[in-house]
Amino acid sequence: MKRLRIFAVAFCLPVLLFSQNITITHGPYLQKVGEEEVTVIWTTDKDAVSWVELAPAGNDSFYSQERPRYYDTVYGNKVVGKLHRVTITGLTPGTEYRYRIFSKEVLGYEGHRILYGNIAASDVYSRRPYAFRTLDSRKEKVSFRVVNDIHGNTDHLRALLSDVKRENTDLVIFNGDMVSTVNEEEGIFRGFMDTAIALFASEVPMYYVRGNHETRGRASSSVYDYFPTPTGEFYYAFREGPVFFLVLDSGEDKPDSDIEYSELACFDDYRSEESKWLEAMVMTPEFRSAKYRIVLMHMPPVGSTWHGTREVARKFVPLLNDAGIDLMICGHTHEYGFFGKGEKSGINFPVLINDDETCLDAEASDKITVKTKDLTGKILHTHTFYLQK
Ligand SMILES: [Fe+2]
Repeated sequence: MKRLRIFAVAFCLPVLLFSQNITITHGPYLQKVGEEEVTVIWTTDKDAVSWVELAPAGNDSFYSQERPRYYDTVYGNKVVGKLHRVTITGLTPGTEYRYRIFSKEVLGYEGHRILYGNIAASDVYSRRPYAFRTLDSRKEKVSFRVVNDIHGNTDHLRALLSDVKRENTDLVIFNGDMVSTVNEEEGIFRGFMDTAIALFASEVPMYYVRGNHETRGRASSSVYDYFPTPTGEFYYAFREGPVFFLVLDSGEDKPDSDIEYSELACFDDYRSEESKWLEAMVMTPEFRSAKYRIVLMHMPPVGSTWHGTREVARKFVPLLNDAGIDLMICGHTHEYGFFGKGEKSGINFPVLINDDETCLDAEASDKITVKTKDLTGKILHTHTFYLQK
């Protein structure tokens, strides 16, 4: 919100004299960033129709010409609501774009007619427009950060990611348990997204990996609405530079029948379905042809005899063992851990577990280098992984 100056358009209908200005309450932030598409997400305090205006990178004013508009639509209609998600397709890989967001308040309906109110928009007059870059599988290098188990501690999140910028980081991964429970959708912003947006998420792509805590709470079934993926599930894949990233959802940690889940959990069946997707995914040419393959999963398949750990070890690991995985990155334990390739029986790839008070600062090019950094930025561990023969 710091960069966002909201203003209302002055030439409104008389009916607007009775309305308060619409306000952008959270965002914008980027999701589902690919080589040819992006989704821009934000919220408003009033119902609105929303769109994004897109411009190529450049030093000319955003006002220099009319920019193409992309609307939030569903089934052929523009969406009216407070959560706005605009997907733009047909972009060029590895290309920088500028963007501006707009929400036009919907005051009400008169039969089939809609009464519109004011417009809220991001400021391109006194501020630089937002910008982002699409992914590029031809790039030789990718740099990325990983944090996990923040559990709503925004001070920690800020300390771990305050230096993330488009110039030094290609993408950021939130590897689960960013909050402890999702009882209200507002908690997603209060717990971590407002901080992420203030630091980088309007301009640097962020990929979300669901943690077991984010499966809990009254609003947990709405979490996907805020973190859409190419598959429509919390398990998905994307490619940036030399790395194919495989995102897995490890589900809950205890048996589905545990009293803590109040008879709502069905994660055994869910992980079985996910394993079918995984089996097909590791056979695709896109996966097979990548220089490196990195798995992101909240719960590690090692270090515990709990049910969830045993499930991912049984349902996912055999498929991954045959898939040429260069590294698996996990969290969940709130403790650093590293198991080299073959060090744990039955696991044929290295597993790195990030602590809840450290981030991973990683780069992949002719090799993969991962540094664990504490809240002060001090490097605690460095791991290097070389290209598999
Ligand atoms: Fe966890």
